[in-house]
Amino acid sequence: MGRGVSRRPEYTFLANAGNGRHGWLRLTPAYSAHLVEERLCAYERTHRVLDPFCGTGTTPLIAGYFGFEATAVEINPFLAWLSRVKTLRYPESVLTQTLNMARSIVQRRSELCTAPVELPPIHSIERWWDEDALHWLASLKATMLQGCPDDDLSTYLIKVAFARCVIQLSKAAYHHPSVSFRDTHQLNLNLMSYDALFLQEVEWVAQSARENPVCEPRILCQDARELERLNEKFDLVITSPPYANRISYIRELRPYMYWLGFLSDGRTAGELDWQAIGGTWGAATSRLKQWSPQLPVDDTVAEVADAIRKAHPKNGTLLANYVLKYFEDMQRHISSLKRVLNGGARIHYIVGNSSFYGIVVPVEQILARMFRVHGFEFVRVSCLRKRNCKRELYEYEITGTYIGA
Ligand SMILES: C[S@@+](CC[C@H](N)C(=O)[O-])C[C@H]1O[C@@H](n2cnc3c(N)ncnc32)[C@H](O)[C@@H]1O
Repeated sequence: MGRGVSRRPEYTFLANAGNGRHGWLRLTPAYSAHLVEERLCAYERTHRVLDPFCGTGTTPLIAGYFGFEATAVEINPFLAWLSRVKTLRYPESVLTQTLNMARSIVQRRSELCTAPVELPPIHSIERWWDEDALHWLASLKATMLQGCPDDDLSTYLIKVAFARCVIQLSKAAYHHPSVSFRDTHQLNLNLMSYDALFLQEVEWVAQSARENPVCEPRILCQDARELERLNEKFDLVITSPPYANRISYIRELRPYMYWLGFLSDGRTAGELDWQAIGGTWGAATSRLKQWSPQLPVDDTVAEVADAIRKAHPKNGTLLANYVLKYFEDMQRHISSLKRVLNGGARIHYIVGNSSFYGIVVPVEQILARMFRVHGFEFVRVSCLRKRNCKRELYEYEITGTYIGA
C-alpha cells in the first residue's frame, strides 16, 4: 500500500518551523500543526481529547487553540516540560517582564564573564560547540539559574530561548543533533553578539507566545502503558506513537536535556531510553539482548521477528527482540488506552512502517489488528505520505472507533 503517494512535507515537522509556538524547538518525528487541525476540525468541541505520546505538544496545543479540553502524556521529562510550557497562557505583563529579565541576565552575565564556568557532562562536548560558544552558554546558564525563579512563566520562555541558542550555536549540521558535525557553527558572530542572539531569541519566543490557547491542556509526564492512572475518560485520540525504527528521542534531545538539567549522566540517559517505547540507545541495547516476551506474540510479529533473526547472524537476534518488544509495549499501551475511552471514542494514530535487513515490518497492519482484538471497530489504515528515507518506508493513519467492553 502506498505506491504513488507523495512526501507531503506539510504533514511533517518541517511545516512547524516559523509557525508560532509550534516552531519553538524542532523534533524530527513531530507531525505538523496542520495535520492535527485537519483532523480536529471534524469534531465537536465537546469531545475530550487525549494524546498519549505528545512529544513536543502539537496535539494539545492545537486542541487548546480550538477550545477542546485535552490531556497529553509524554514519558520524556524534557518533552513533557516543553509541551506544558508551550501550551500555557502568557499574559501581556509576563511578556514584558520576560524581555526585562533577559536584558538583566545579559547585563549580569557580562559582569561575570571571566568567572570559571561549569560545563554539562556531554560526551565529547568540544565536537558540539566552539570554545567561545561553550563558555558563553555556560555563563549565560549560570546567570539564568541565579536570577530566575524556577517555576515562573518568564523563566520558561527564557529557557526556551536559551535552548534555541544551544542548537543554533552547535556545530551539528542542519542544527540537527542526529547528523554529522561541522568544524564550526554557521552563525557568524563574535563573542559579544552572542548576547544579541539571545535577546533576539527571547523576543521571538515572547512574540510567538502572544497567541494564547483558549483552554490550557493538562500535560503529564507519564507512561502511555499506564493510562488508567489518569482517572479521566476521553472521546478522541490524535497521536503519533514512536515508530519501530530505533530512533532514540534521548539521543536527539540530549543537548537540550543536559543544558537544561533534565539529564546529568549517561546512565540516566540509557535508563530513560529503556523506559521509552522503541528506545535502543546505549545501555538499552545490551538490556534488549537479555529480554524475552512476556505476553503472547501475534503471528505476523513472530514471523517478521523470525525472518529478521535469520537475515543477519550477528545482529539479527537483537533486532528481532527489538521488534518483539516494540509490539509488546504497544499491546500494553492499547490495553491501557481502552480503559480510558468512552464508548464511541474515535482514534487517529499516525505511524510509520519500518524495515530491517530488507524485511519490511508492517507496523500499521499489526497495530490495526491489535486495535480490532481490543474492541475497536471500523478500523481502517490509509497511506498518508512517503517518508524521506528508504524506498519502502511510508507513514500511515490508523482510524477506528472504540465500541466498548
Ligand atoms: C512520534 S513522537 C510524537 C511526536 C508528537 N506527535 C509531536 O508532534 O511532537 C513519539 C513520542 O512518544 C514518546 N514516548 C515513547 N514511549 C512512551 C511511553 N511509554 N509513554 C509515553 N510517551 C512515550 C516519545 O518520547 C516521543 O516523544
